[in-house]
Amino acid sequence: MNKLYCNKISKSFVINKDKLNVLSNITLEISESEKIAISGKSGAGKSTLLHIMAGLDNPTAGHISFNDKNFSKLSRNALSKIRLLNFGFVYQFHHLLEDLTIEENISLPAFLNNSFNKEKKHQIDLLMKELNIYDRKKHLPWKLSGGEKQRAAIARALTNKPKFLFLDEPTGNLDDENALIIQNILIKLSDEYGIALITATHDNEFIKVFNKVYKLKDGKLS
Ligand SMILES: Nc1ncnc2c1ncn2[C@@H]1O[C@H](COP(=O)(O)OP(=O)(O)OP(=O)(O)O)[C@@H](O)[C@H]1O
Ligand SMILES: [Mg+2]
Repeated sequence: MNKLYCNKISKSFVINKDKLNVLSNITLEISESEKIAISGKSGAGKSTLLHIMAGLDNPTAGHISFNDKNFSKLSRNALSKIRLLNFGFVYQFHHLLEDLTIEENISLPAFLNNSFNKEKKHQIDLLMKELNIYDRKKHLPWKLSGGEKQRAAIARALTNKPKFLFLDEPTGNLDDENALIIQNILIKLSDEYGIALITATHDNEFIKVFNKVYKLKDGKLS
């Protein structure tokens, strides 16, 4: 079974010569199919922790490993490959590329992975249909509503069928109705395909569906 392990992670930033300690000695293990939520106030370090766990940023101390592969010992290319094959990331502010259509945005991980073909195109069509954005596929992101953009960002994160899906406030900018749609889709996909969800969220309704809820405060996870 796939496992992601955070071993004694600390992270600090230096701002104007002052050191800001954001994460302090965090240890956490996540297995395939698990659903975990990370709550905590704005500025607590949720996004920072998610980025580090997904191999998008480096910790100041400690290390992340995926199936016993220590990220800090891997080349950039090897780490990119692990990310492309196993991880999906939905950013706090969706990060769709504005000059690509929704369909092109969603297909991008498959192009990067050299896995785009007829079968993949078909799977991407199904994914867009499931997330109810198929009829917007030829549009540029700015034409879509917040909820549609968020669903497109989720589709893009699922293109390569990740084992671990990182979600940074996936329902944060949405009204209750759209938040519930996104929530139900994520739970269904996780249950259907055994995808682990690692979610930073303030959403008290969403938090109820997770196996484990952690709170990030003063750099510590409890
Ligand atoms: N690259 C960076 N350089 C300097 N400071 C940073 C950087 N990234 C994050 N920080 C700081 O680290 C702290 C944690 O930020 P982070 O974005 O992880 O918080 P968060 O819990 O996700 O907050 P929110 O709920 O508002 O999204 C903040 O004080 C932020 O300003
Ligand atoms: Mg954040």
